Amino acid sequence: MKLADNKATLSFSNGSPSVDLPVYQGSIGPDVIDIRKLYAQTGMFTYDPGFLSTAATQSAITYIDGDKGELLYRGYPIEQLAVNCDFLETCHLLLYGNLPNEAQKKDFTSRVTNHTMVNEQMQFFLRGFRRDAHPMAVLTGLVGGLSAFYHDSTDINNPEHREIAAIRLIAKMPTLVSMAYKYSMGQPYIYPRNDLSYAGNFMRMMFATPCEEYKVNPVLERALDRIFILHADHEQNASTSTVRLCGSSGTNPFAAIAAGVACLWGPAHGGANEACLNMLEDIQRNGGVAKVGEFMEKVKDKNSGVKLMGFGHRVYKNYDPRAKLMQETCNEVLQELGLENDPLFKLAKQLEKIALEDDYFVSRKLYPNVDFYSGIVQRAIGIPVSLFTAIFALARTVGWIAQLNEMIGDPEYKIGRPRQLFTGAERRDVLPISKR
Ligand code: CMC
Repeated sequence: MKLADNKATLSFSNGSPSVDLPVYQGSIGPDVIDIRKLYAQTGMFTYDPGFLSTAATQSAITYIDGDKGELLYRGYPIEQLAVNCDFLETCHLLLYGNLPNEAQKKDFTSRVTNHTMVNEQMQFFLRGFRRDAHPMAVLTGLVGGLSAFYHDSTDINNPEHREIAAIRLIAKMPTLVSMAYKYSMGQPYIYPRNDLSYAGNFMRMMFATPCEEYKVNPVLERALDRIFILHADHEQNASTSTVRLCGSSGTNPFAAIAAGVACLWGPAHGGANEACLNMLEDIQRNGGVAKVGEFMEKVKDKNSGVKLMGFGHRVYKNYDPRAKLMQETCNEVLQELGLENDPLFKLAKQLEKIALEDDYFVSRKLYPNVDFYSGIVQRAIGIPVSLFTAIFALARTVGWIAQLNEMIGDPEYKIGRPRQLFTGAERRDVLPISKR
């Protein structure tokens, strides 16, 4: 980051001396005011719940322009990556900063595929869960559990440990997600097959059984790969910030990523794809397209507590570029499977049309986000709704680990320690129990 020519001056109405604050410029995007010395200079903190105006870090990985609806991974537009690259190339880009050439791609793919199996002992760990446990509960446990299995890659301060942990996490997530699925179905686990693509191998581990091989359909394989690319990173969102904060204590990478999985689970974040599909199914059950108007009235009524899931975003105040790509993929997948008349897809299109014309949504700049269509695609592929967020976690793992490793390598990195505005009781004395 570069010091800007101007500085910010903070003045106070009570006559306290004003303070000058340095301003820094990034390569693109808004400048930042450096408030690190503010407390020392004024005895005051800043107050910004939800980080609406706070850059918690510098980063060179992902850039979003929410007004333009632009998403860049290491400078490359998501639209170009989704069309010209596969997920493992995208992983290489996020982790190392450059798209691999052929030799680098071969080497990276071979390193990842060599780590797809998990310690055989993991299945006994998995067996401790109830079969009807939510896959995200299981995944939080399994990812955290990896730190108990791979002791040779838990030192976050050792670059070799960080590298091997990154490869292991990317390689093993599909295996863990499919194991969680097979366990919930009461079916035997299917071991990875390293001659398949990353997405193809995952589909086979999900849908093959020991008595029936699964033939990977290239259209569905490409669709899943695209879902992975679109979810791979999204700068300092809630789960990524969680991973950074957790990792800032020096904990091991598996523990930090498990914290990210836990955060992602929430319906305002990664859980929105599951919530979105449940919402569509609910409307469908209660009258379908004919009831869309009624549902939208509820969404607009602040007292109803109903939200249009898959709509709105903290950063995008324009169409989420990932949603456009996802809609395209959705069309391809439904056509391939002969499901063009899928009622949920029609319902989603109808909801989108109404929302894009309705003043409530237009005035608040609420547009479809990536989750609006990704659920329909996953459902068409055969992935159960309860597993959607686990697929998101699988894809986001590379982003989390790239951001974690970037933080550790940042000379300005410190343990994260937010401050507070205290509004509780002032000092008081404990009374004997008879007098309370
Ligand atoms: N349906 C109805 N109203 C909405 C919605 C929605 N989906 N999203 C925002 N609003 C309203 C909100 O009530 C508020 O209205 P008002 O100004 O009258 O009080 C206004 O729009 C601004 O919303 P906000 O809650 O201040 O915005 P935020 O930045 O805090 O929240 C959000 C962003 C994503 C949590 C929210 O839009 C939401 O809950 N959307 C539905 C869940 C969803 O689809 N999440 C996935 C996000 S993309 C995937 C990911 O990155 O994890």
